[in-house]
Amino acid sequence: MMMKFYTFTFLICLFSKLQGHCKSDISLGNSLTLTSPLEYTPGFMGKAYIIETESSSTREPGFKAALTMESSDKDDGRYLCSLQIFLGDVRVWSSGHYSKMYVSSKCIIELTKDGDLRLKSSYKHVGWRSGTSGQGVERLEIQSTGNLVLVDAKNLIKWQSFNFPTDVMLSGQRLDVATQLTSFPNDSTLFYSFEVLRDKIALFLNLNKLKYSYWEYKPREKNTTVNFVRLGLKGLDLFDDNSRIIGRIEQPLIRFLALGNRTGNLGLYSYKPEKGKFEATFQAVSDTCDLPVACKPYGICTFSKSCSCIKVVSNGYCSSINGEEAVSVKRLCDHEMVELNGVTTVLRNGTQVRNISKERCEELCKKDCECGAASYSVSEESCVMYGIVMGVKQIERVSGLSYMVKIPKGVRLSDEKSNVRKWVVGLVGGIDGFVILLLISGFAFYFIRKRRKSLLLPPPPPPPPPLSQQPANTDS
Ligand SMILES: *[C@@H]1O[C@H](CO)[C@@H](O)[C@H](O)[C@H]1NC(C)=O
Ligand SMILES: *[C@@H]1O[C@H](CO)[C@@H](O)[C@H](O)[C@H]1NC(C)=O
Ligand SMILES: *[C@@H]1O[C@H](CO)[C@@H](O)[C@H](O)[C@H]1NC(C)=O
Ligand SMILES: *[C@@H]1O[C@H](CO)[C@@H](O)[C@H](O)[C@H]1NC(C)=O
Ligand SMILES: *[C@@H]1O[C@H](CO)[C@@H](O)[C@H](O)[C@H]1NC(C)=O
Repeated sequence: MMMKFYTFTFLICLFSKLQGHCKSDISLGNSLTLTSPLEYTPGFMGKAYIIETESSSTREPGFKAALTMESSDKDDGRYLCSLQIFLGDVRVWSSGHYSKMYVSSKCIIELTKDGDLRLKSSYKHVGWRSGTSGQGVERLEIQSTGNLVLVDAKNLIKWQSFNFPTDVMLSGQRLDVATQLTSFPNDSTLFYSFEVLRDKIALFLNLNKLKYSYWEYKPREKNTTVNFVRLGLKGLDLFDDNSRIIGRIEQPLIRFLALGNRTGNLGLYSYKPEKGKFEATFQAVSDTCDLPVACKPYGICTFSKSCSCIKVVSNGYCSSINGEEAVSVKRLCDHEMVELNGVTTVLRNGTQVRNISKERCEELCKKDCECGAASYSVSEESCVMYGIVMGVKQIERVSGLSYMVKIPKGVRLSDEKSNVRKWVVGLVGGIDGFVILLLISGFAFYFIRKRRKSLLLPPPPPPPPPLSQQPANTDS
């Protein structure tokens, strides 16, 4: 069915009473309302630009802040109301990144007389606020870096969007150690994070309490610690405690860095005037198979970049690229381990146990209902256990390295000889009927669904804990 897509765009001048300055400030005591169409419209997107930066170069888009109203992805008759910042067409910040505000018909932005910026669904109902009442706020402004700020009479910043990073980091913005960017694939319990740690920057896959990295970059110089990172003219720079550059991912003319919400890849984007759009000129993970979600859980990313299934425990859902379906964590008790040859996982920091034999490694994972797979290295006598079977990819066979997956007890691999592909012992191939039988015969699994809350107008969203104590991090 064709989705109707509407975009309503206004440039609002009514906020500013100043002579023709409709591009800059919003003053106190004003509000603006967006109203939904009379009938619920799937795919609706209403946008009212409230401020924009004066674009320094006419060839590149500038920043605009907008009040937006979009139909909810659940098509439940409600709309998402948020304050967003756009660079050209790209959304680079949203007040609803962590906590969505749903409204039924109205989306109102207001800068109260005492300086609190609010999103409301009605006269009374506040769904988001800056929390700056009584701090002497005078104006809402957008700086040339894309930082949306509330400033007082002395131009001191009382609130800024740069202190609440979402999934994008802009040129000139800095991210301090222990902060992160996050992105949420739609309709999934898992999410990705890009984190600034003391010893590195890294990408993580997060699922319930599980957290595994799949990419990292360490400072060039040994024995240094990261204090913050900043997107500068030459690329993404890592700084130590003395603000000395200790590492760089070099890539000139980057306007922003973004963590993809589908792939979990990290990209550095610059503007291509000839194409009229932003493009990633650098991607952290360059090979599809190195992404943890290249294939669905229990899928194997092969040399030909397609997905193959570890059928026995697949639940039938690992057949196509890009796991869009909800991912779950299963409890795997009373299972046994099976070794897959010529595969490994791109997940890095599982639970490691050193100085043990392969048999002991197998035993450890087998006994632990939370363990889904383990890899073992003979040379290091190291056993690494994982709670999920994801990011599995085909590699050239290396002796002394093995990857073991848990399967239900009593499954005879030799039965599947006819379907055997050389590189995966007995487990890859079309045996769906067999799988279903297994599932019916009491192979227990649990879906731990932790869907993000979608209540009607949740209380004012407190910023997520790790982000809230961040010091001001603007550099302009
Ligand atoms: C998730 O995204 C895909 C496309 O990327 C879309 O087809 C699907 O409808 C989305 N699911 C939901 C629940 O929005
Ligand atoms: C994923 O990112 C794209 C591009 O920024 C955006 O249009 C889409 O709404 C995002 N999906 C979700 C579920 O956040
Ligand atoms: C590394 O740093 C520690 C603490 O700052 C210092 O004691 C040590 O000498 C340094 N090592 C090298 C090789 O620079
Ligand atoms: C992987 O590393 C991150 C960051 O150091 C940590 O939070 C996470 O718990 C680790 N995962 C496991 C399974 O140890
Ligand atoms: C592992 O064994 C080696 C030598 O056999 C020893 O030096 C090392 O300390 C051991 N490591 C652990 C974690 O037990």
